[in-house]
Parts: sequence; C-alpha cells; structure tokens
Amino acid sequence: MRAIVLGAAAGGGLPQWNCGCENCRMARAGEIPAASQSSLTVGADGHGWAILNASPDIRSQLAATAALHPTGSRDSPIRAVLLTNGDIDHVAGLLGLREKQRFDLFATGEILAVLAANPIFAALDPALVRRRPVALGAPFELVPGLRAELFAVPGKVPLYLEGDTVLTDLEGEQTVGVALDPEGGRTAVYVPGCAAVTPALRARLDGAGIVFFDGTLWRDDEMIRAGLGTKTGRRMGHMPISGPDGTIAAFAGLEVGRKIFVHMNNTNPVLRPGSPERAAAEAAGWEIACDGMVVAL
Ligand code: MLT
Ligand code: MN
Ligand code: ZN
Repeated sequence: MRAIVLGAAAGGGLPQWNCGCENCRMARAGEIPAASQSSLTVGADGHGWAILNASPDIRSQLAATAALHPTGSRDSPIRAVLLTNGDIDHVAGLLGLREKQRFDLFATGEILAVLAANPIFAALDPALVRRRPVALGAPFELVPGLRAELFAVPGKVPLYLEGDTVLTDLEGEQTVGVALDPEGGRTAVYVPGCAAVTPALRARLDGAGIVFFDGTLWRDDEMIRAGLGTKTGRRMGHMPISGPDGTIAAFAGLEVGRKIFVHMNNTNPVLRPGSPERAAAEAAGWEIACDGMVVAL
C-alpha cells in the first residue's frame, strides 16, 4: 500500500489565480514548485485506489498520476472517494468524476447532507456512485485490503455555510481525520484541516507510523501581515505551524514515524525551498509535501 500526494496546497493552490504574493509570483516564474489543491490518494495496484478529498484540480492530478490511469477501455482503478469536510477545495472535484464510473463515496452523514442539499452533485449518477455514510469511530473497508476509520477533529463548517456566529473548534461530523490501517502495518493518519490538537487527538496521533497534517499557515496572522486578507488562520479553522500554540509544539513528545505537512496555503514560507521557516520545520522532524510525493504505508 502507498499514498501519493495529489495536491499539497490548500484551497486556491500555488499559484492562486488572483494572488501576487511572493510565493505565487515565484511559482509563476518557475522559481519554486507549483502545487495543486488538497488531495491524497491511497491504495495499491491490483487492489484499487481511494481518493481522499476531491479537489478542483482533480483532472490534472489524475492525468499526472500513472497509478490512477484507466486499466481498460472504460475502467478506473479508483474504487472510492472519501471526504474529510465539505470545503470547496475538497468536494468540487466530485464534479470532475461524473462520467458514469462506479465508485463509493464515503463521508460522515453531515458531510453527505451538505452534498445532498446541493442538486449539482446529482450529476454523480446515484446508480453508480453509492453515497456511504460513515459513523465516527467505526472502521470500514475503504478499498480491498485497506481499512479506515474517521474521527472528529476540531474545525468549523464550510465557509459557504457560515452563519453570523462561527464556532471554529466544533468537534463533530463536519471536520474529520482519517486513520488508515493497512493490514500488518502501522497506522497512517490524514488530517488536512485542524483547529487544535486536543488530548483525544494527541492520543490518536501517538504511535502512528505516518501523519499527514494541516500545514495551512506558518503564522496565525500570515495573511493579514501580507496584506492579503483580514482573517487569521484560527478564524479559518486552521492552527498555525509555528508558535507556542502551533502544530510543531503540539506534536512535542508524540511518537510518530513520519510527519508530513499538507494543505499549505500559498502564502506559507515552507513552500519555498531554502526558507528559514522550512528549515525550522525540517529541523523539528517535519517533511513538506509536494505534488506527486509517494509515501509507503
Ligand atoms: C479551508 O481549508 O479553510 C477552506 O478550504 C477555505 C476555502 O473554502 O477556500
Ligand atoms: Mn481547504
Ligand atoms: Zn499567493
């Protein structure tokens, strides 16, 4: 079994269409690698593959990934799609999979209800794309030979469902992490969005062989300082990498085999090879995902 990072960036990607920040300019100039939007695939040739979050860039992501290419005149090794929240960067790619192909669509009941409330997703023929509600804490077979379990992670509802009052650290079915337990291996954990590392989440992460974790922002006020917006990372439901309340600090003392940041916003300095922030993350034992990164599970 292996995982392939299909998209290492957060919503918007790197470069983002309307952004002229330093990273986006460098990515356009080819000075740093570009990155597409948040998605991971897991599986093995012969067993089939699951797409964890269907990003708006899914067409180019599938084209770039040989393991996901058709195996027959009209066949795909993609057996399943799993969603960790209802954000646009994680669900819009479903519309790119509407060409009458059979697969299972796994998510919590709450996330599936968001899709059900939007008629455009009926483009996925219900006779072929089975919507499979998954209860938190209940293991299920994601693809043959690969079991998975969803667990609550502090987060918020999707931006387009925010009301007047927004709770950014809800724990329920709207934001989840995935534990992957390949038979005979150590658990791999995928958490692309996280507002805080709670004691329950720490217990879940401790002892994992591999953790793919929310690397959206380096600093909580990164977008404000860059003059690109008014929101902090925490307001967006993402804890920062650095600082006393950041992810590097939160992982101190945890026994984790490999720690890999995913879902980086285009402003994040860790996306620049050679930046002091990237060096600091690496010195703390973290890897920075890139599109196409292959990880043995
Ligand atoms: C997020 O991760 O905060 C969302 O994807 C933001 C968005 O909807 O663009
Ligand atoms: Mn996102
Ligand atoms: Zn930018």
